[in-house]
Amino acid sequence: MSKKILILPGDGIGPEIVTEALKVLEVLRRDHGLAVEMEQGLIGGAAYEAAGKPLPDETLALARAADAVLLGAVGGPQWDRIEWSLRPERGLLGIRGELGLFANLRPAILYPQLAAASSLRAELVAGLDIMIVRELTGDVYFGQPRGIRTLESGEREGFNTMVYRETEIERIVRVAFTIAGRRRRQVCSVDKANVLEVSQLWREVAERVSKEYPAVELSHLYVDNAAMQLVRAPKQFDVVVTGNLFGDILSDCAAMLTGSIGMLPSASLDAAGKGLYEPIHGSAPDIAGKGVANPLATILSVAMLLRHTLAQVELADRIEQAVGAVLNKGLRTGDIMAEGMQRVGTQAMGDAVVAALRQQA
Ligand code: IPM
Ligand code: MG
Repeated sequence: MSKKILILPGDGIGPEIVTEALKVLEVLRRDHGLAVEMEQGLIGGAAYEAAGKPLPDETLALARAADAVLLGAVGGPQWDRIEWSLRPERGLLGIRGELGLFANLRPAILYPQLAAASSLRAELVAGLDIMIVRELTGDVYFGQPRGIRTLESGEREGFNTMVYRETEIERIVRVAFTIAGRRRRQVCSVDKANVLEVSQLWREVAERVSKEYPAVELSHLYVDNAAMQLVRAPKQFDVVVTGNLFGDILSDCAAMLTGSIGMLPSASLDAAGKGLYEPIHGSAPDIAGKGVANPLATILSVAMLLRHTLAQVELADRIEQAVGAVLNKGLRTGDIMAEGMQRVGTQAMGDAVVAALRQQA
């Protein structure tokens, strides 16, 4: 039976990079019998303009009915001043929360072809392959109470709640252990247990769950130290598991080690493996519409979609190999450009991946 993919291009460079990813899906459909149906929906600023809110009910209904969602990016300066609850980012957080996409997988992989683009010396990052497993539907992002209140003195106070239930910690830690079991069998759990009670519980639960995975080694780091270790000696990490806020920060940091936030895909999964797939970079309003954005993170998000939701591992491998082949040929978008390479735009990069796919045996 054919699977349904909801396409949410979003804002900024979203539509351009999603267009290239759709070309790749089209080839797989035509040449490899991939049975998928695509539908489009609105999210973020684009949805606000068309429907008055960043996550229209219709989009949510389509997302619930789909097997997977492919998203471009949301946000832009033109929506910075509108009411908080209507901002594009609320659409993204809304769909994560509503669909229960609690497990966010953010690989930070250094392509050997791009080693020179890393912010660290080549020997520190050569072969880097970290998987950050970020909890995505809890923590201070969703915790209640939250708000801005006025004190008796008339001064205002902003507050959020960092909160995790045992079951929320258990399920994300299990995801990390399961993934580590297929990799180098090391999980590093990151928290702030020297200060926060929520982190003390996190650590205790991580220890408890680790007993079920005797083949995987568990270590712990405080988040400040983890940030330092990521830029000091990043290759010590295999799988990192952490809460929503710490994961947001550490995953940007890890991305930069690969030299190219424009290369990194992500998956956000629910308990049944349904997922939302998106590049980890943002909507890059400064280059939107110019045809220069790097579509590879979105194309690699399609690979993750095939791997994690559709169980089409061979097709996922094919996409990843095609991306490698294009880099080997020396094609580069502006963000990963280096001396001696050939600079190409969004469309040419997408076409090159399609050509590489079609050349595969
Ligand atoms: C991310 C982004 C989002 C987040 C924003 C856009 C709400 O930074 O996916 O990492 O903080 O989760
Ligand atoms: Mg972020």
